[in-house]
Amino acid sequence: MALRSPPTASLLSSLSASLLVPLSLSLLALPALFRLHWLPLNVIPSSHALLHFDETLQGLLPTIGFAVLTFFGTLVVVGACRETFQQRGFSGRDLLKPGSTHKVPESQGLPACCVYLLALFCFIPFRYYLGSEGKEQSPQTTSENGGWSGDMTGRQGFPHHELATYLSALLSLLSSLILGFCDDVFDIRWRFKMPIPIISSIPMLLVYYAGRGGTGLVVPGWPGWLRTAVGSRVVDLGLFYYVYMALLSVFCTHSINILAGINGVEVGQALIIAFSLCLNDALYLPFTSALLSKEKTADIYWLSSVNPIQNELVGRHLFSLSLMLPLVGTCAGLLAWNRHPSLVFVGDTFCYFAGQALACAGVLGHFSKTLLLFFLPQVFNFLLSCPQLFGFVPCPRHRVPGVHAETGGLYPSVAVFSSRKRIGTLGTGMLLILEGLGLVKLFREGEMRKVETRLASEGKGFRQGKGQGQEQGKGQGQGSRRIVGTTNLTLLNSLLVLKGARTPLEHVLNELRKSEVATSSTSTTTSSSSSPGGSQVALLPIPPPSSSATGNGSVHIDEPRLWRLAMGTQLAGSALAFAVRYWAAAIVFPDQ
Ligand code: UD1
Ligand code: MG
Repeated sequence: MALRSPPTASLLSSLSASLLVPLSLSLLALPALFRLHWLPLNVIPSSHALLHFDETLQGLLPTIGFAVLTFFGTLVVVGACRETFQQRGFSGRDLLKPGSTHKVPESQGLPACCVYLLALFCFIPFRYYLGSEGKEQSPQTTSENGGWSGDMTGRQGFPHHELATYLSALLSLLSSLILGFCDDVFDIRWRFKMPIPIISSIPMLLVYYAGRGGTGLVVPGWPGWLRTAVGSRVVDLGLFYYVYMALLSVFCTHSINILAGINGVEVGQALIIAFSLCLNDALYLPFTSALLSKEKTADIYWLSSVNPIQNELVGRHLFSLSLMLPLVGTCAGLLAWNRHPSLVFVGDTFCYFAGQALACAGVLGHFSKTLLLFFLPQVFNFLLSCPQLFGFVPCPRHRVPGVHAETGGLYPSVAVFSSRKRIGTLGTGMLLILEGLGLVKLFREGEMRKVETRLASEGKGFRQGKGQGQEQGKGQGQGSRRIVGTTNLTLLNSLLVLKGARTPLEHVLNELRKSEVATSSTSTTTSSSSSPGGSQVALLPIPPPSSSATGNGSVHIDEPRLWRLAMGTQLAGSALAFAVRYWAAAIVFPDQ
C-alpha cells in the first residue's frame, strides 16, 4: 500500500497554522499583559470585555490558546521525531497490512504527550499566578536580619489547593507516561503493570480528600421504596469511594490499550471521550446555562452575576476543561498521523497517558461517576475481555482482527484450544452465554473435522497418514459439539461478528494445528500433529485463507470501515452517557 503524504505537508495545515497560531498566542498574551498593566486597556477595542471574561472564567482563554498550540505542536513534533524513533528501533509491523514490508515508527505517543505536558506546565502561571497577584491579605513575614521567615502555608490569597490539585494531576500523568514508555520498551507483565496506577493515584486521592471531595452515593428516588429500604437519601461510602477512584484510575489507564490494534482507534476513542467531557464541562459554564435556560438576561451573558470563587461547580469544570481541551488538541494532532494508513503508531505510552488524563479530569473535577458513563464502550470491551484477561479462555498475544491479503477485508481473529489445553466448565459457560448474545462465533470439533475432511479430499493441507484419512475422521464422531475455538473477545471482533464478517475455517484449522504443535510434548511434534479429533496426520501448509474461501457469505469490512464503526459506537456511547446523565438521572434522582 502506498504511503500517504505527511499531514504537515498539506497547504491547508500551513494556512490554518498561520492564522490560528497567532490568534491563540494573542488569547494567551493579551489578558496577561492587561492584568500586569504592561499594556494599556485602550490599545484594542473590547479589551474591557476580554479582561472581564478572563477574570470571571479564570483560565478559560489560556486553555483555548494552549489547545490550539498543542494541536499544531503535536503535528510538528511527531513529524520531527518519527525518523529518530525508527532509527533507534522503535518501529512495528502493521499487522493489518500483510503485503507491506514497511515498518511504522512506534511510541509516537511520547512526543505527543510531552507537547501536552509542556503546555500544562506553561499554563500554571497564566492560571495561578495571574489569578492571585495583588490578593495577598497580609504582608510577607521577614525576620530581623531581613531573611525570609514565612511559614509553610505560603502566601495568603494564593489558590494553594487548586494548584496542589493541578500538580497532583501532573504527577499522575508523569507516572503513566513512564509506565507506558517502559511497557513499550520492556513489555511489562500484567501482574506488575496493573497495580502501578493505584500507587500513582495516591497524590490525586489525597488532594481529593483535602478538597473535601464527596464520598456519598445518592440513593435513587425511584422506585420510591428504595430510600425507605436503605433508610437514607445518601449512603456514605467513605474509604470504599477512594478504593473506587483508585480502581477507576487503573481501569482508565488500561482500557484504551485493550481496545486497540486498528489504525487510529486508540487516538480516536481518546479524542471522542475528551471532547465529550469538554461538552459536559461547557454545560456548567454560565453562558451555556444562560443559552439553555429560558431566562436569557444580559446579566448572565456578560457574566456579571457569576463569581467562580463562590460558584465551585464552575471552578471544577473549568479545571477539567484545562486538562481536556489541550488533550483534544493533542489527540487531533496525533490522529492526523495515526489515522489509516498509519504513518506512526502511538504505543502504550499514549494509551496509558490519555486514560490517566481522563481519569484525572473526572476524579479531580469531582465527577468520577459521570466519567465512567463516557467510557461505556471501554467498560463493555473490558467485561467482554474478562474471560481472556483472567485466564478462563486462552488469550493470544495479539487479538486484532485478521485480514484477507488480496481484498483487505477483515475477519474476527480467533483463540483456539488444543486437545491438551482444553477450557474449563466456567470458561465454556461464559463462551456459550456470549455466543447466545451473538457477540462471538464458536468453532466446534465436528465442524472443524468436516473442513479437515474436505481439505484432505481436495488434496490441500494434508498428506494422508498411515491408514488414516477421511474414513477414520468420520469414525470418530464428526458431530462433536466440543468447543475448539472462539473469535477473540474484543469489541472490534464482536463488531465484525455482528456485522457478518466470518473467519475462514481454514484459518481456524491452521491456528489449531499450530497450537497442537506448540503444546505437543513428543519429539515428532514439528513434523506431525493431532487433528482436532485426535487423528494423527502429516502437515502440509494450508494455503492462506482467501475471502472467497470462507464460502459462508462473509461481509466485506475493511480497516477504515471498522474504524468508522468503532468510532460510531464511541459516539453512540457518549450520546447515551448524556441521555443517562441529564435525562434518566432527572427521573431517577428527582430531587437532585
Ligand atoms: C494490546 C491488546 C492486543 C492487541 C494490541 C494491539 C489485549 C490484552 N492486548 O496489547 O490484543 O493486539 O494491543 O495494539 O487486549 N498495531 C497495528 N496496528 C495499529 C496499532 C498497533 O498493527 O493500528 C500493532 C503493531 O505491530 C504494534 C503493536 O500492535 O507494534 C503494538 O502492540 P502493543 O501495544 O505492544 O500490544 P499490547 O498493548 O500489549
Ligand atoms: Mg498497546
